[in-house]
Amino acid sequence: MADNEEVLTLITGADKGVGFETAKELGQKGQHILLGSRNIERGEKAVKKLTDLGVKADLIQLDVTDQESIKKAADKIQAEYGRLNVLINNAGMTNDAHQKASEISTATIREEFDVNFFGLIDTTQAMVPLLKKSTWAKIINLSSNMGSLGLASDPQSRFYQVSSVGYQSSKAAVNFVTIDLSKELKEFGITVNSVNPGWTATGFGGRSIDSPKIPGMQDVEEGAARVVKLASDPDDKTTGTFTENEGTLPW
Ligand SMILES: NC(=O)c1ccc[n+]([C@@H]2O[C@H](COP(=O)([O-])OP(=O)(O)OC[C@H]3O[C@@H](n4cnc5c(N)ncnc54)[C@H](OP(=O)(O)O)[C@@H]3O)[C@@H](O)[C@H]2O)c1
Repeated sequence: MADNEEVLTLITGADKGVGFETAKELGQKGQHILLGSRNIERGEKAVKKLTDLGVKADLIQLDVTDQESIKKAADKIQAEYGRLNVLINNAGMTNDAHQKASEISTATIREEFDVNFFGLIDTTQAMVPLLKKSTWAKIINLSSNMGSLGLASDPQSRFYQVSSVGYQSSKAAVNFVTIDLSKELKEFGITVNSVNPGWTATGFGGRSIDSPKIPGMQDVEEGAARVVKLASDPDDKTTGTFTENEGTLPW
């Protein structure tokens, strides 16, 4: 990378939570943040918070379930910046309230797959041509320990007791995308990794961000730490992994 080359980083679902913290920290390290938000008003507020902190940030309206929004976002990035270094597929949701696998409606599961899996694939496919135009590039997929088949099937793991089949399977599917993309894009120097942020005090799953942090829950800084580390080191050629702050997770 040329010393003066600006690092362009797109983060989906970055108007709050782990995505916003990631945007803040990578921006403070000098990256130019393209802040993805499906809601323009929330996105503009988030961009203002970042620019007030001295971060270079622009809003990219991006609903990962809306093909037109994804195309417009890719066209805008192409027209205004011509390339992309880092794509952080952070947007995610859960709504399955731990119903039993034998009872949960597939409509609920489909909503989770639409955002967490199909949205991630559509966004990535639109951005890969822009990533290929950079001298180095990375894709980071926000997965979850809940999506680990290894942990879910291990009687010694606390995830053995968890049933949240829509969210779990959508994140396991994300991990498969990571594996396949990492192999496909290796020849272009694009790394692709899954990261588990860990149980983090955000509004995720409808939790009120004003409610007290439950013991064991991480601050948002800890939740963003692994993504920030991976995204901020162009020389780190790690690819095809599933990690968290503490190390490697079973797929
Ligand atoms: N928090 C945890 O404990 C935890 C644990 C493991 C994994 N994760 C993963 O970490 C990621 C970030 O979660 P978080 O805790 O920061 O959650 P969050 O605070 O709820 O933030 C989620 C973000 O995703 C956005 N989003 C939802 N649907 C979208 C769509 N269709 N298009 C674009 N953006 C959309 C939300 O936008 P709006 O503001 O418009 O709603 C929000 O900006 C997720 O992928 C989640 O699965 C979180």
